[in-house]
Amino acid sequence: MARLDVMESFQDIAFPGHLHTQETLRDAPNFRFQDTDTLIATYPKSGTTWMQEILTLTLNQGDDTVSRTVPNWARAPWLEQYYFPHVVKMMREPRIITTHLPYHLLAPALRDSKVKVIYVARNPKDIAVSFYHFHKMANFLPEPGSFDQFLDCFLEGTVSYGSWFEHVKGWTTQTSKSIFYITYEEMWLDLRGSLERISAFLQCPLGAEQISNAQKHCSFNRMKENPMVNYSTVSSDIMDHSKGQFMRKGKIGDWRNMFTEEQNRRFEEVFSSKMVGSHLKFIWEA
Ligand code: A3P
Repeated sequence: MARLDVMESFQDIAFPGHLHTQETLRDAPNFRFQDTDTLIATYPKSGTTWMQEILTLTLNQGDDTVSRTVPNWARAPWLEQYYFPHVVKMMREPRIITTHLPYHLLAPALRDSKVKVIYVARNPKDIAVSFYHFHKMANFLPEPGSFDQFLDCFLEGTVSYGSWFEHVKGWTTQTSKSIFYITYEEMWLDLRGSLERISAFLQCPLGAEQISNAQKHCSFNRMKENPMVNYSTVSSDIMDHSKGQFMRKGKIGDWRNMFTEEQNRRFEEVFSSKMVGSHLKFIWEA
């Protein structure tokens, strides 16, 4: 079945919401990956959609037909969403699957599997800002209140998908050769080099022209205009575009425009206590 058929089979279904259910969380550890699958794992707002686009273009040798015609949630569905079992049946190999789940929940499914995993991390100050704006437009998420209130919840881990600190530590302390780590900031600073590294990891070599095409199609400006990834086609009941855009700024260091000195101090305090002993280094501004 061609990838485009996935879209045709889902014409009647509006954007299928965004939240996992108890049932899907229960099923996730039992999912049977295929050896040719690639799993994108991220904490929300880390560059998930960007990686979905990068992988779509990489696996299609830089050709943007699929990325222009199939929405990201159908070509790289979230494992934990209720519509996943229906979509996955219609996907052809090699499949791209996405998850925001923490490592420990997926460990049983990953064990004994040859699935390749790409974990994208992003500096958490920019994530907090991006997530806050997303809460304002996404009607399936609770009202975030003020940024100050939201930041407290983010630091406490009482937001959707839980603690950023636990998520990042859970995934990045795995030493499996099947897990490839990259940051949003690395992709932002050197997209071409990142595409080369990702295609090498996937054993999907691309020629110079194919890389150039992929690079062009997954630029922020191109993606911002692409209705298959900018969520402009979803109903305003689900995402209210009058309150913000999904493809918002796409920058490193936007937190500087939002954080007060006091918030930054509070953030640094929690960051240094939670990340003690971690080898991870983040790029906070460009
Ligand atoms: P901002 O809100 O800071 O702009 P996710 O897909 O994990 O929800 O992440 C969304 C964030 O990634 C948003 O960040 C969005 O603008 C950014 N993003 C998406 N595509 C991008 C691209 N091609 N280049 C840079 N940033 C991108």
